[in-house]
Formats: sequence, structure tokens, C-alpha cells
Amino acid sequence: MDKLIGACLVAQSGGPTAVINASAYGVIRTALDDDTITHVYGAAHGIRGVLDDILYDLDLEDEHELRLLLNTPSASLGSCRYKLKDYTEDDTDYRRIMEVFKKHDIRYFFYIGGNDSMDTCNKISKFLQKEQYLCRVIGVPKTIDNDLYGTDHCPGFASAAKYVITSCMEMRRDCNVYDYYSAVIVEVMGRHAGWLAGAAGVATATGDGPDLVYLPETDFDMDQFLDDVKRIMDERGDCMVVVSEGIHDKNGKFISEYGAPDAATDSFGHKQLGGVASTLVSYVKQKWGVKKIRGVELSLLQRCSSHFASATDINESFAAGRAAVKAAVNGMTDKMMAFHRLTDVYGDYACEVIPQDLSLAANTEKKVPREWINEAGNGVTQEFVEYVLPLIQGTPNLPLENGLPRFAKLKRIVAK
Ligand code: F6P
Repeated sequence: MDKLIGACLVAQSGGPTAVINASAYGVIRTALDDDTITHVYGAAHGIRGVLDDILYDLDLEDEHELRLLLNTPSASLGSCRYKLKDYTEDDTDYRRIMEVFKKHDIRYFFYIGGNDSMDTCNKISKFLQKEQYLCRVIGVPKTIDNDLYGTDHCPGFASAAKYVITSCMEMRRDCNVYDYYSAVIVEVMGRHAGWLAGAAGVATATGDGPDLVYLPETDFDMDQFLDDVKRIMDERGDCMVVVSEGIHDKNGKFISEYGAPDAATDSFGHKQLGGVASTLVSYVKQKWGVKKIRGVELSLLQRCSSHFASATDINESFAAGRAAVKAAVNGMTDKMMAFHRLTDVYGDYACEVIPQDLSLAANTEKKVPREWINEAGNGVTQEFVEYVLPLIQGTPNLPLENGLPRFAKLKRIVAK
């Protein structure tokens, strides 16, 4: 395999996570250390930054600040939700991307993102191949939704799951202090896949978790839900519920739309969800007259909280970025780095990074298997709990300043 000498470009895309910067650092550090890579750039706001030719010169960053990316949440290069058209219909964006790549001699392109971002990465990879522009393109997975196809789990999921689990354990303690009926309904992200909501089942397994968990993999029945809540409140005087933002009725209508029918959509046509907890609170109040009931939308907290992230997640996210560069330098292209779960010689969890075809990962959503959800559709099984537990292990060694987290402050100098 001939050495491919040239610059590398890394970009972040889609909803951020607590560890997407750890993957970026994996790419950046490994690329900076590699002799075949002449320069390291980061695109501002994913593919948008490429189209606008706004590339940060990462060779000019201080190593100390770059290293802080390991514990810095959200996307430090900026993110985007931008859908590329099919190049057979309109190749304007692709021609512009190739022009910018040529200008900076980009020969390695690493795109960190979820389903939609892998779609972008895949399309660019195929277009560059068609045009015979030599550039190795690798996707690095990321999503708290954990719904990328071809990987055991996704960077970002475990830290978000750990936040959801811990918050549920804490709220459970608050929810049952009074000597009269009280309830809390917690809303967790996840449009079509309930991995993150289901993770709350790990809190239940500790004895401090929700009584009921609803995922979008099953149809949500309002009457059944109201009966479930009443039964639990009668049994124990309080009730804690976790719902995924994407729960829907048997006609496919989102429950969040029962309350707010005009949800905005992004460029991929996805409705911005949210508000399902408060909708359900109104239904429970109205039906059962429960006065002490709260809806809690974990919203951004679940994906940007890094103070109790999973060290396993941080390490694996870094490893995915690092493996992407190593693979590309060794000749690989048109792949996404994926995780394969292993058991080591002691019977403990281990994980290896393996390549998957980019086209497989693009646009295919991995749902929670039906058999990991209980018969009634209001909780998860022990198998689900065992799937999550190894992923959330370890606490980060958080760099502090004045007792507060010290996040990376990049210079973000735009390359000429
Ligand atoms: O990245 C996935 C996700 O976090 C979904 O769970 C959620 O529906 C979506 O992103 C919301 O993202 P935003 O509103 O920031 O576009």
C-alpha cells in the first residue's frame, strides 16, 4: 500500500455528547503524531464549515488545551444538521467540498456523528471515489441515542445513560418523601430508539429507579398508562415514570404532539420532540387528581453532562478516533469504526474497534430488541440491564479549576 501524504480534516456533526470531543482528540492527537499527515484541520460546524471553507488550523493549538477535550462536553469544533442532496440529482455541494479539499490538500477525512452524519460521510466518500480524488474517508460513531447499525454501542450513549440512571436514582429519593400521593414523570431523549430511556431500568434494578419505563419500540396506550400509574400509586403511594421523547400511539402519532401539534423539523425532516412529560402530567392530573406530580425533561443535561461521565465511554471514544486515523493511514477508506463486545480471559467486558461498511451504518436505525422489553411494554428485562452495566463503569479524572470543571479553550484559528 502506497503511503498517502497529505492533510487531515476532522469534523463533528449532529447532536453533541459528553464524549464527542474525546473522539475528536483521538483523531487529532494520532494525526499530529503521524508522519504521513502533513497538517491537521478541524471544520467549523461539520460539513457546513467545509462548504464555507472555515477550517481551524489545529496544528496551532496548545497540547494542554487539546488534551482537555477528553473531559469537555459538546462539540468544540461546532456541529451541524445539514443534509446533502443525492449527488446524482445535484452535485453542487460535493464539487464545493472537493474544491476545498484540493485547496488544503485534504487526503484524510474523519466525520464524527450519528445516523444522518454517517449518511453525509458515506455520500462524500462515494462521490470522491467516483471523481477519483484520492482521500481516505472514515466515519467515527457518536450518538446518545445508541441507534447506529453495525456497532455494539455508540460513543456518547454510556455517559448519557449514566446521567439518566443516576438522576433517576436521586429523584426516586425525592419523589417518595411525603405521606401523600406524589409522582414524577421523567422524559429522556431518543426519537425512534429507546436505548436511553431503557437504561433507566438499571436504576430500577438498584431498587432506586422508575416503576414504569416506556420506549418508542412499542405503541403507547394512554389508558393502559393511566391504569399502570394508578395501580402503582395505590400500592406504594408514589410513582416514578420514565418515558422516551419518541413514544407514540398505535397510529404512529407522537404523544408529545398531543400537547404541541406544531413541532419544528430539522433539515433531515426530524420533528423536534420534547414536552411529552408535561403532556402526561396533565393527563394524570386530570384523570386521578394527583396534585403532587412533576414532569422533568432531562433535555440537554443528559447529553452535555460530563462531571459523572463513564470513563469507559471516554476511553472508547478516544480509541475510536485513534483507530480511525491508524486505519486510514494504513490504507483503509469508506468505513465506520465500530465496537465489537468481547469477553476477556477473566470473563470481564472488553471491546475492540472494528471497521464496518459506511453504507451499512448510514441511515439505518438500530432499535432495542423487543425481547429486551417486558411483555407489558412498561419496563426492560435483565438482559438490557446487563448490556448497559459494563458500559457505564469508571469515573473521569476531571481537571478542575477553582473547584469547577476546566474545559478546553481552543484558539480556533481559521486556516487561510
Ligand atoms: O443526537 C440525538 C438527539 O440527541 C436526539 O435524541 C434528539 O431528539 C435530538 O438529538 C435533538 O437534537 P437537537 O434538538 O439539538 O437538534
